[in-house]
Amino acid sequence: MYDAVVTGCAGFIGSHLTEALIDRGDRVLGIDSFDDYYSADAKQRNLRPLAGHAKFKFLRGDVRALPLRRHFGPETTVFHLAAQPGVRGSWGTNFHRYVENNILATQAILETLASPRAHGRLVYASSSSVYGEPPGGPTSEESPTRPISPYGMTKLAGEQLVRLYGRTRGVSAVSLRFFTVYGPRERPDMAFHRFFRAVEQGRPIEVYGDGRQLRDFTYVGDIVAGILAASRADADGEVFNLGGGAPVELETAIRYLGEAAGEAPSVRHVKAQPGDPRATWADIRRAGRVLRFRPRVSLRTGLVNQWKWQAGSEGRRALPAA
Ligand code: NAD
Ligand code: UGA
Repeated sequence: MYDAVVTGCAGFIGSHLTEALIDRGDRVLGIDSFDDYYSADAKQRNLRPLAGHAKFKFLRGDVRALPLRRHFGPETTVFHLAAQPGVRGSWGTNFHRYVENNILATQAILETLASPRAHGRLVYASSSSVYGEPPGGPTSEESPTRPISPYGMTKLAGEQLVRLYGRTRGVSAVSLRFFTVYGPRERPDMAFHRFFRAVEQGRPIEVYGDGRQLRDFTYVGDIVAGILAASRADADGEVFNLGGGAPVELETAIRYLGEAAGEAPSVRHVKAQPGDPRATWADIRRAGRVLRFRPRVSLRTGLVNQWKWQAGSEGRRALPAA
């Protein structure tokens, strides 16, 4: 049996988490379908530092189709990160991917955990997108959940499934709402990855709307620390925000990004995208109190780390020291 199972282990956050679990001594089973949302090469690179490690086993496949039960024991913590991410791509005919990978996949994990012989523990990767367009100021976990994108709706559906399998089928679980995570290995569809790529190629970056949208950007190393803390906490049935703690307007982040790259980017404004909230801002007091969660990496430092990775160090162990 494994100490930890990480679904989505070849992805951006999942690969960092898997390395951290192995560093703390866990035996880890990583699962990933290598879906085609972005390149398989990028996912292979994410897994490279783990290849051949005695405490790591990789299983390629869709969590909806794999025989999971044999891998989950009472001592196993399942970190369920596999999903179809991306806010803006969730409209239209793509929606089935969100239903399959965010709702049906989560239900498959929960059914397995609810079976009498499994009974491990679950850490579910949720999202700030469950809040939609909050009224202003920091958003606490008690704030209304009214997603404004199909993606946010499916992440909330996953969270609701986690809640009801906990309540009715005895699955012990905690849900973590991540706020715009960035850093080395960031997904290629996300803002900073796109912006750094544009700078490298001498193109203007495309900003959706006026650039005054507020984002609570969270460094990936801080997210991993929060996930590890949640896996050890006595917090069954709880939901926690994990945010960077210092939200900025996108245009400020772009200024820092230019400093990191050593070149001020030129900017082209295009129309705002449906489903993008005007502001995200995490109230992280609950995570601070219960999980001792303290974001440590400033946006400026985190962007330097991401730039170093993106500008050539891809493939190596990706998290420079904070
Ligand atoms: P990612 O796309 O890099 O990683 C997800 C991985 O899951 C991919 O490698 C993909 O191949 C795999 N996958 C997808 N569906 C699968 C399935 N059915 N079975 C097995 N594997 C499957 O995404 P990420 O940015 O690392 O996000 C990880 C998790 O964190 C997701 O649940 C996402 O919704 C959540 N999240 C991310 C952010 C962020 O800013 N990156 C913010 C909030 C929440
Ligand atoms: C991110 C992740 O992509 C989602 O998977 C996640 O669930 C969400 O965070 C979350 O916090 O829950 P997003 O905040 O849209 O979503 O992250 P980015 O893609 O990094 O975008 C940040 C901001 O930059 C957004 O306001 C977006 O509109 C803007 N942007 C993005 C641009 O102006 N131009 C681009 O080319 C890309």
